[in-house]
Amino acid sequence: MHETAIKEQLFLIYVVLLFRFCLIDLTNNKQMKKIVFLLCTLFLITACQYEVIEVELIIPPSPDDQVDEISFANEIIPIFTTNNKCTACHTIGKTAPDLSVSNAFQSITSGNFVVSNNPEASKIYTYTNPSATTHVWKHYSSKEADLVYYWINQGAKDN
Ligand code: HEC
Repeated sequence: MHETAIKEQLFLIYVVLLFRFCLIDLTNNKQMKKIVFLLCTLFLITACQYEVIEVELIIPPSPDDQVDEISFANEIIPIFTTNNKCTACHTIGKTAPDLSVSNAFQSITSGNFVVSNNPEASKIYTYTNPSATTHVWKHYSSKEADLVYYWINQGAKDN
């Protein structure tokens, strides 16, 4: 990404500065060396935090998009069950939430995995988002994630 490239360039400049001021003895000013070293360390810490935020970023579909009403039974359930994508593990008697055809709606709503009209606060949307690092198992494709997003935005109905 463009932003990351700029960060990398800045990082290189800092490393060069670190070498000039801290390692190669160009100056005898100890105070100065300390300050530069501190700045470099601080930069490294902020750079690391920046990376983490970038990885966790969830990109929602554009709210301006006009979408027809999403049907839970016809469009959401198949995401869970086709080729056992989720139901391989999330089914009756296995890991919660139970995403099997007959239990999925009840299981998601009673287990607080969905907050109606608020996809970003809904674990069933965020936890397995394509860009999320929370779930080490299967993730949604971006198209599937968008469908789940719209379904929740439209009130997370049992339709
Ligand atoms: C190979 C098994 C497996 C598959 C396939 C799988 N999951 Fe999971 N999932 C788990 C396990 C194990 C956990 C609990 C540990 C964790 O959070 O990673 C979990 C946790 C979750 C949670 C959070 C549960 C909680 O109590 O906080 C959600 C939501 C979830 N999965 C949704 C899904 C969805 C949606 C799919 C399909 C796109 C899916 N999972 C596919 C194994 C799986």
